[in-house]
Amino acid sequence: MSIVIAIDGPAASGKGTLARRLAAHYGFAYLDTGTLYRAVGQSVRAAGGNPADPALAIAAANALDLSKIDEAAIRTREAGEAASLVAVMPEVRAAILHFQRDFALNPPGGKRGAVLDGRDIGTVVCPEADVKLFVTASPEVRARRRWLELKGSGSSVSEAQVLEDVKERDARDAGRAASPMKPAADAHLLDTTDLSIETAFGEAVRIIDKSMS
Ligand code: DC
Repeated sequence: MSIVIAIDGPAASGKGTLARRLAAHYGFAYLDTGTLYRAVGQSVRAAGGNPADPALAIAAANALDLSKIDEAAIRTREAGEAASLVAVMPEVRAAILHFQRDFALNPPGGKRGAVLDGRDIGTVVCPEADVKLFVTASPEVRARRRWLELKGSGSSVSEAQVLEDVKERDARDAGRAASPMKPAADAHLLDTTDLSIETAFGEAVRIIDKSMS
């Protein structure tokens, strides 16, 4: 049996950075599940469609080819928004559920464990995960982090606009009927508002080591 670490939380909470570092630390495989939703939303956009159109989104989810993901295109603000729109559809979620579970149970590269990050890993994708973390931070701090990232990649979006996006994404991700974003009952909460990446990482390792000992 593989060891599964589930990391959930809202946009720009720091969960991705944390999950990637944890996977490297424990020698586990890493899956950023937001990538899958972003790829579905972006594939609809790239074909000129509206990601909120269920027929287009479901067809894109069923046709998802991970080898064709355009990393730069899925990291834009627009792709994040499109991901959040397609993610409300139960059929889209069902289409990519199997891939996520299979990754957790049979981590690629013969690794003995997997770290998955997303919104519903601890609640729906891997409810039996060995350790669950729910990573949060205030909307203002998350908006600043995301804005700095976007600015670094050449975007001229304002910080106020990013804060608005973050709040809108939170409301949609937590308010949807299908697998809403929420901490699992047995998740450890990690608020990174006032923590550096180093401190947050140290705290996560402490929680995981204690849970697995
Ligand atoms: O983590 P992210 O910003 O890359 O995620 C993009 C969107 O994908 C997010 O707003 C909601 C959706 N998502 C989801 O519904 N469930 C997941 N496990 C991961 C992402």
